[in-house]
Amino acid sequence: MKAVFLTGCSSGIGHATALLFQKNGWTVFATMRNPNAAKDLATLENVHVLALDVTDPNTVRQAITAAEAIQPIDVLVNNAGYGAYGPLESTPTESIERLFKTNLLGLIDVTRAVLPHLRKRGTGTIINVSSLGGRTAWPLGSLYHASKFAIEGLSEALLFELEAAGINIKVVQPGRVATDFNGRSVDINVDPAITEYQPVIQALMASATQDHYRTEPQVPAEVIFTAATDGTKQFRYPSGNDAVEGLQRRRELSDEAHFAEIRSTFGLDRA
Ligand SMILES: NC(=O)c1ccc[n+]([C@@H]2O[C@H](COP(=O)([O-])OP(=O)(O)OC[C@H]3O[C@@H](n4cnc5c(N)ncnc54)[C@H](OP(=O)(O)O)[C@@H]3O)[C@@H](O)[C@H]2O)c1
Repeated sequence: MKAVFLTGCSSGIGHATALLFQKNGWTVFATMRNPNAAKDLATLENVHVLALDVTDPNTVRQAITAAEAIQPIDVLVNNAGYGAYGPLESTPTESIERLFKTNLLGLIDVTRAVLPHLRKRGTGTIINVSSLGGRTAWPLGSLYHASKFAIEGLSEALLFELEAAGINIKVVQPGRVATDFNGRSVDINVDPAITEYQPVIQALMASATQDHYRTEPQVPAEVIFTAATDGTKQFRYPSGNDAVEGLQRRRELSDEAHFAEIRSTFGLDRA
């Protein structure tokens, strides 16, 4: 029986992924900021719910030490993260720091804490949850995209760095998923006094009310499970038709043609 260690399991993709690994007979270290939010995970066989806030190095080390004492970690899934939207100029410094501490520095800290264990055993897989937004950027999402583009670059460099130690690294790129991402988790910062940004804000708000395609969190969970178990060297795993098609289109188009499509998608060419 293999063991997976996941961050951000209180809801959404992390929760669905923890359930799926458990169903497939894995030992699951389901970590979350508040273990009281574990819901059904707390009652399942071979699931260990551990407290871990990716921005708190003490909880990172304690959770990894506790997990390793139960069973060596085979797969790390860096999933914890959230979105921040609004003009860069009107986003408070605290919001910027919190986003990067969570989405990027937290992922780096958890990875650095797990790596010595994987390296000593000469085996293991790290799966970083990026996004369709790790390769394409949407208006007002500068900070979120910066964090996910960074995860893509970090992971690509680590691919070469970790090869000699026998460790695999992979990136999962979900498109839109029906989770708490656009609800309780999102951080929106808009200053109505800065009038120049109002057209793009209005265009984005109009787009947000549309009924967009979304997969259920079980879809990226299946993709993460495949990435962990397929035994291949595949590096990127898009999840959902919007991600598969969007990433394909991004590869085919020039920057300028792609930007024109984004303007059209969000109605910015009409704003
Ligand atoms: N939903 C989408 O459309 C979508 C698309 C592409 C990529 N993604 C990525 O998928 C990942 C999971 O998001 P989701 O869609 O499942 O949203 P979600 O339901 O809001 O889940 C986010 C998870 O991250 C956790 N988290 C936030 N800050 C944390 C911290 N400091 N330490 C530990 N955990 C923390 C949350 O825990 P709390 O309960 O404590 O807040 C929650 O468990 C994120 O990396 C997101 O960027 C999502």
